[in-house]
Amino acid sequence: MSIWHVTGGRPLRGSIKVQGSKNAVLPVIAASLLCPNETELLNCPALSDVDAAVDILRYLGCAAEHRSDVLRIDAAAPGRCDIPRELMHRMRSSVIFLGPLLARFGEARLSVPGGCELGPRPIDLHLQAMRLLGAEIREEGDAIECRSAALRGAEIPFPFPSVGATENAMIAACAAQGSTVIYNAAREPEIETLQEYLRLLGAEISGAGSPVIRIEGFSPRPRAGLRVPSDRIAAATYLCCAACAGGEIVLTGTEPKKLVPVLNALESMGCALGTGFDTIHIGAPERVASPGAVVTRPYPGFPTDAAPLLMAACLKGRGPAMFIENIFIGRYRHAEEMRRFGADILLRGPMALVNGVPVLHGAAVTSPDLRGGAALVAAALGAEGESVVSDAGHILRGYDGLDVCLRALGADVWRE
Ligand code: EPZ
Repeated sequence: MSIWHVTGGRPLRGSIKVQGSKNAVLPVIAASLLCPNETELLNCPALSDVDAAVDILRYLGCAAEHRSDVLRIDAAAPGRCDIPRELMHRMRSSVIFLGPLLARFGEARLSVPGGCELGPRPIDLHLQAMRLLGAEIREEGDAIECRSAALRGAEIPFPFPSVGATENAMIAACAAQGSTVIYNAAREPEIETLQEYLRLLGAEISGAGSPVIRIEGFSPRPRAGLRVPSDRIAAATYLCCAACAGGEIVLTGTEPKKLVPVLNALESMGCALGTGFDTIHIGAPERVASPGAVVTRPYPGFPTDAAPLLMAACLKGRGPAMFIENIFIGRYRHAEEMRRFGADILLRGPMALVNGVPVLHGAAVTSPDLRGGAALVAAALGAEGESVVSDAGHILRGYDGLDVCLRALGADVWRE
């Protein structure tokens, strides 16, 4: 079990480069099953979720090598179309392999990845999209079997702009005969990265970033290379760490335009923010003001993944901050842990009311999930004395060297 030690009270100073995006690279790794030869991904972060996705590719018979920040995948001759339960359960978003398996083999056998710390993770929208594209799906317990002699283009209306279901539909539709139109598609930047990759494979696809995506199928090109964009949630994490600890930092290799709701919230809290083409500078005030109400929504709204981090920054704020979570019912498990630092948080269903307190004290806390774990580390940076964050293995799923980067910024953080 990974245990992190944090001694708070040290303002952050310096500059770090933000890692490549976990949520952009995972669907591209799955989609690389469609490439009849090599895919090369640059700026690929070292994450346990990436390791899990690569292990699935290797199980399917692909070759894959992750050296430094370059991931090379050779999907010339995968020989299987089933993914065992233990591999599916290592990564919450493993269902993203459903569309690629159907597109490559016309068949897929996998198990539902099941719920996670954030609550149930249903995949009904994924299955609805596959059925509309012509797949026959048999569900038995947590096992799913999909077959399709020939996928055919379809109109796919989503009742909710699900990121993963949009990605599965985009990938499967590339192998369908005829046109596919996805309505109420997710608009996250990671959808645009997937579109960029599928275009490199020869797909005729447009509309990513808008609610309507059109796919005309494709004839796979033999190889593709892509640079993984910056991780917008990792960037939000470091900005909130600065707001928690105080000080002044610069993020490089990032994309400010993908972070507007987070930058606006931090600015409303009294942080001094400056942005360049791929840099963000933040100067934290002595004590942050309240951002007022923070309502999480699908992109381009305030991202649910950044809410725990902004909550950490509000714990010592002046005045109450109201969080309304609209995406995951299990999003607030970190809030109970934050109370151990002396935080004043009232939870009612999707609402969390944070009353800022003047001082937080170090405590022993347990990481409940990926973003909650990072938020506890951020809160500990602003607490007096030593804190211990246990079960912090969650953090390694989505952050490439969070402890190393925080130490580079002057924080006293180390991993046991
Ligand atoms: C992606 O998850 C991200 N993960 C999540 O980031 C992110 O929080 C989420 O999108 C929302 O932005 C990756 O990209 C790997 P959804 P995903 O399908 O695709 C419901 C992180 O910390 N839903 O948009 O699973 C679902 O229950 C992770 O990096 C259905 O009801 O999100 C949830 O309430 C956490 N049926 C909502 O939609 C379905 O078939 C959002 O889910 C699918 C989803």
